[in-house]
Amino acid sequence: MTQASAVAHANLAFVKYWGKTDPDENIPTNNSISMNLSAAQTFTTVTFDAAQTADHVLLDGQPASAKFTARVTKHLDRLRTRAGVSYSAIIQTRNTFPAGAGFASSASGFAALTVAAAAALNLTLSEKTLSILARKGSGSACRSVPGGFVEWLAGTCDTDSYAVSIAPAEHWDIVDVAVVVSTQEKAVSSSGGHALAKQSPFWSARLAQMPDTLERTRRALLDRDFETFGRMIEQEALSMHTVMMTSAHEADGAWRSGLYYWLPDTLDLIAAAQQWRSDGLPVYFTLDAGPTMHLICPAEYETQVIEAVQERQKARGWSILVNHPAPGAQLLPDMLEK
Ligand code: DP6
Repeated sequence: MTQASAVAHANLAFVKYWGKTDPDENIPTNNSISMNLSAAQTFTTVTFDAAQTADHVLLDGQPASAKFTARVTKHLDRLRTRAGVSYSAIIQTRNTFPAGAGFASSASGFAALTVAAAAALNLTLSEKTLSILARKGSGSACRSVPGGFVEWLAGTCDTDSYAVSIAPAEHWDIVDVAVVVSTQEKAVSSSGGHALAKQSPFWSARLAQMPDTLERTRRALLDRDFETFGRMIEQEALSMHTVMMTSAHEADGAWRSGLYYWLPDTLDLIAAAQQWRSDGLPVYFTLDAGPTMHLICPAEYETQVIEAVQERQKARGWSILVNHPAPGAQLLPDMLEK
């Protein structure tokens, strides 16, 4: 029996991954830049056991669904093939953040699973190889392997598409005040949305702008130039949402003009963030494929931003999760009894 445990953080993209050149291998159309999120962790223990006849996945101590288990098994098969073994495993995994809160648990989940399973199989793999393997589980998971601020080099094929750290977590204490306005499951998954991106007439404009977006965002991050950084990330999130909202497709037997991941409260917070800036608060936003609002500010303004959100929310039942930059995926001393 061999066992290993790992922790990984979910990540928030400042320059987004939206659209794939190879959906089977999760090869993106463009590089993306992200930050690992301190409060959004997945802890995973993998125990390979020759006596086990099938993979058994426990999510927060409860047996996982057949769909979730199948995704884990598919991923473990990639590692088993590499190690030349066929034993099944017990996988115990838990998240420190609620499901549907706007943090990709698939990113932290596949990063932690990859690192724990590789160690349990006695595979010594480089960070690059771990990132490549995590990418196959879910694209953005490759960015949860390296630490701090990360760039996913899009590459062109399996062996050259992986993420690297561009600055450690200590480089810049900016904060993500995430405002969860709804925890309802989104109607269209990220994977479904990626496949529709090319339907938008604005897709090519977004890609034409991308080299400049990447260069200016990376530079502002490395220079800790918050104002330029804020402007870049806010425009970039809206560029992605412009593509989403204009990706026409058929669903439930009818034509739809695009994907709308926002809710009225998301729009309310977009207006609020712009007003707070006029009032002198340095805060900018980014949004992923969901209604959660990510308000980004320098750490010294964290309390003011939280207070502004609390005052605005009144009785609307929002919840707030605060994230600072976090390290990459790491092995842990085993968390469970052998
Ligand atoms: C909007 O990594 O969830 O969060 O590779 O199909 O699993 P799959 O997609 P996923 O897509 C993330 C999309 C995004 C932007 C981003 O994180 O860069």
